[in-house]
Amino acid sequence: MFYLNRKEARLVVLQRIELISNFIKKIRKLFGRYIFSNFISKYFLDTKVIGQAYYNDMNEEFKEIEKYINSKNQNFLSIGSGLGGLELIIDKKIDVSSFSFIEKNYVSKKVKYGWDISNKEAYNDLNIQKKFLIKNGMDSSKLNIFDYDKDKLPSNKFDIIISLYSLDYHYDFNIYSKYLKKISHNKTKIIFDTIRFNYFQNVFDKVVVMSERTKNIHSSKRIICSKFLD
Ligand SMILES: C[S@@+](CC[C@H](N)C(=O)[O-])C[C@H]1O[C@@H](n2cnc3c(N)ncnc32)[C@H](O)[C@@H]1O
Repeated sequence: MFYLNRKEARLVVLQRIELISNFIKKIRKLFGRYIFSNFISKYFLDTKVIGQAYYNDMNEEFKEIEKYINSKNQNFLSIGSGLGGLELIIDKKIDVSSFSFIEKNYVSKKVKYGWDISNKEAYNDLNIQKKFLIKNGMDSSKLNIFDYDKDKLPSNKFDIIISLYSLDYHYDFNIYSKYLKKISHNKTKIIFDTIRFNYFQNVFDKVVVMSERTKNIHSSKRIICSKFLD
């Protein structure tokens, strides 16, 4: 399991809303999203239960993508990783050269979970994320966290780029497409959940559907893509 303090648990439930129990879900419906994200998520979460549920969820995600990513010494980039539980598991199970994260450094007042046209929804705190990763065993020398709004983004090439329930699920792929072209080589694998699989057949040379979901916020396919077409 992951050991979470209250602040970390709060971020995790905002990032992975399915982790909250049915009871809390009912309260969220009753009191509304503002009260949920500003009060209930701050004070009424069971950190042990959430630490275990978060670990289980990330372990399942790992098992799904493992066979696509398990070569040695690769550079990973995660876009919208949340706290980075998946990357902690990858780090324990695969020999990784480096992890870079691009995330946002604030929590929206009213968490909406939909298609965010203005690219303003965010639920993270980069200091908390860094502490969480190091506390759970990631070596700080192979870890870099970039603030999407403030930092110059990394310009080296990455072998694996992962963005679960984030890029093209909550915000438009095209926000990143030019940048992704720059930092990928012909064998870079880009994994993300999308609501418009067909579109990417004209963007990449190779697009494979890894899995499909119909029950979450909206129906989506998890795809793995490589080689931009132009
Ligand atoms: C629904 S959460 C998914 C978190 C994690 N990937 C997971 O599967 O548990 C989406 C994440 O994307 C982040 N985010 C929002 N806009 C972003 C952007 N433009 N670039 C990078 N991250 C962003 C949010 O702060 C949030 O942590």
